[in-house]
Amino acid sequence: MKSTFFTASIVIAVASASGALAFPLVKRAADPVTTVLQFALTLEHLENAFYSQALGKFDAAAFAKAGFPEFVRGRFEQIAEHEATHVSTLQGALGSAAPAPCTYSFPYNDPNSFASLAMTLEGVGSSAYLGSAGNLVSSPAVLQVAGAILPIEARHNGWITSSVLHQQPWNGAFETPLGPNQVFTLASGFITSCPASNPTLPFKAFPSLVFEGSPAPGQKSTVDFNATSTGESLFVAFLSGLNSTFVPLDGKTVTVPKGLQGTVYAVVTNNGSASSDANTVAGPAILQFPFSSQVSNS
Ligand SMILES: *[C@@H]1O[C@H](CO)[C@@H](O)[C@H](O)[C@H]1NC(C)=O
Ligand SMILES: *[C@@H]1O[C@H](CO)[C@@H](O)[C@H](O)[C@H]1NC(C)=O
Ligand SMILES: *[C@@H]1O[C@H](CO)[C@@H](O)[C@H](O)[C@H]1NC(C)=O
Repeated sequence: MKSTFFTASIVIAVASASGALAFPLVKRAADPVTTVLQFALTLEHLENAFYSQALGKFDAAAFAKAGFPEFVRGRFEQIAEHEATHVSTLQGALGSAAPAPCTYSFPYNDPNSFASLAMTLEGVGSSAYLGSAGNLVSSPAVLQVAGAILPIEARHNGWITSSVLHQQPWNGAFETPLGPNQVFTLASGFITSCPASNPTLPFKAFPSLVFEGSPAPGQKSTVDFNATSTGESLFVAFLSGLNSTFVPLDGKTVTVPKGLQGTVYAVVTNNGSASSDANTVAGPAILQFPFSSQVSNS
């Protein structure tokens, strides 16, 4: 990230006289803090639409038929309210610079596949806020608001993962940061089209990366992606917490490292020691390696 990224001047006033959060923002065009907020709102619109569509589709009887106890749908209602509040808060901060909702396509067809996708989206949301936090250091008030949203996304993810899906509530001691281009790559798969009047965000989607079959730690796995370059040595970087593990790609086969647990992001790179945007060939892909409460979590 260039250091000039942080130099935009921005005037923030946090007013909470009526108890309502308001932080009018006087901005220069396309300053970096506005860009982060626009990107955050783009993701919150997506989550908001995801929950309101699914809860409109699946009533209490549908959740019961899918085998979920009664409290599950009620908690999802609460999560939906949180996402709607995140949207209105970010809209309030951005004013006329706020992007409008897009149209979406979500690959779920029952409450179970909805819950799995909810886990994924909340995890990506947590990683997105973490990965963009550094771009907000010039605006402590905005950073605090983003910091107040991040753990709620992570609590949503932990609750869905453990209470609803009976998997692991966390990966280990650290959340995994994802950069905006990585998040955009994952989110763009769910976005069908956006209003032409929306601001153009300075992010791009990398080619998608697919792991065939059921990848498992210590096992060989076949990956599929459309590479734009040929002839160079490629690697798969497995991102977990603050740790990146690089494994050489042999054609389209890679051996998944032993010891990976929980949600792991994988990226194809042309550098065996750095997974920067400049080195990225495809991905991320999202991998899930559930682990029991009986194993070490480090
Ligand atoms: C690669 O491109 C082809 C042709 O556009 C497409 O059908 C295929 O799904 C792509 N593969 C991946 C992994 O994106
Ligand atoms: C990173 O992950 C690899 C593979 O799981 C492991 O061998 C290594 O010890 C980890 N490094 C850190 C710093 O956690
Ligand atoms: C990989 O990236 C590192 C860090 O940016 C850099 O020092 C190194 O030269 C790169 N290696 C190759 C083969 O490009």
